[in-house]
Amino acid sequence: MTNAPDRPIRVGLIGAGLIARQHLTAMSRVPELVAVGISSRTRAKAEALAGEFGLAHVCDSPEELVRDARPDALMVLVSPQAMAQMAAQCLDFGLPLFLEKPVGLSVAEAEEAARLAGEKGVPNMVGFNRRHYSIFQQGLERVLSRGRLLSVMVEGSERMSVARATGRFTDEVLRAWIFANATHTIDLLRHFGGEPEEVCAFATSLHEPLGDQFAACLRFPGGVLGSFTGNWHSPGGWAVVLKGEGVTAEFRPLETCRVSYADGTSEVLEPDADDAVVKPGFPGQLRAFAQLARTGRLAPPSQDLAGALLTMRLAGSLIAPVRPLC
Ligand SMILES: NC(=O)c1ccc[n+]([C@@H]2O[C@H](COP(=O)([O-])OP(=O)(O)OC[C@H]3O[C@@H](n4cnc5c(N)ncnc54)[C@H](OP(=O)(O)O)[C@@H]3O)[C@@H](O)[C@H]2O)c1
Repeated sequence: MTNAPDRPIRVGLIGAGLIARQHLTAMSRVPELVAVGISSRTRAKAEALAGEFGLAHVCDSPEELVRDARPDALMVLVSPQAMAQMAAQCLDFGLPLFLEKPVGLSVAEAEEAARLAGEKGVPNMVGFNRRHYSIFQQGLERVLSRGRLLSVMVEGSERMSVARATGRFTDEVLRAWIFANATHTIDLLRHFGGEPEEVCAFATSLHEPLGDQFAACLRFPGGVLGSFTGNWHSPGGWAVVLKGEGVTAEFRPLETCRVSYADGTSEVLEPDADDAVVKPGFPGQLRAFAQLARTGRLAPPSQDLAGALLTMRLAGSLIAPVRPLC
């Protein structure tokens, strides 16, 4: 990679929506990166963000962004249904690439993106920001300080009625919600447990064609057990519970952690200063991306397109076969 270690990585953004704003806000905590330009479908939105965050270049296409702003790296932050195509287009620039999840609305689209990235040899990273939660790291450390990790339980209850009511998502995205959004929690099974060696999954459907009631048991390397449940039309949210030897760490909601010990004591953990003031995990993943752009190497716990494909395949294994509720 080309960058001197003492100057920030110059980043170009593609997409000017809600998540672009979150990344720009998080960059204020990450001096290793600086945003130098933006392009999007609706120029006025790109101009508004550029004005607010002091970006020098507003461009009408990714090609113009690369030519005029001369970024060291690109961040693709477009709508879910546009990600796979935009990923393929941007891989051609050869610049280190950050891609918001999901890269594709199906396993086949994720496979194609991973194949192209491998073929072109472009350093890349997919934005599973929960992997970078400081509170996850702390909670896991508490569990491992007492012995082995025994079990990983993930609750991935999506709020489908809320997602529909926003009017922000196309039918195509809502239909593929398990890939478009539920992969956030499904990815946490791999994050904490590793690559599952065995998955036994059941799914039924109340309303959603690819399922909306999920129950799965998993076996991870070393005999760690796992479970995944998702009930998308019932109140509830996202949670993770890690079971260890005489210790349980419960993240409910994900941004909080209570650790309980066998002697009856417990403690509440706090996120680090970065995660407390901007979207959690964003500063950590931006630092990881800066490191990738500088060295060409992606360090754990970040995922590239090949890793994201494994999460997409795991999501696929949770939905087959879906049965209707009687
Ligand atoms: N990590 C997380 O926690 C998290 C949270 C939310 C979203 N996301 C992901 O982040 C991505 C963006 O989400 P968002 O909430 O920011 O969506 P959004 O508010 O709808 O913004 C999407 C942006 O992409 C632009 N865009 C769409 N298609 C494009 C194309 N073909 N070429 C250029 N620009 C295009 C849109 O342009 P217009 O202004 O013309 O519509 C808009 O500016 C999604 O993939 C989503 O899954 C991640």
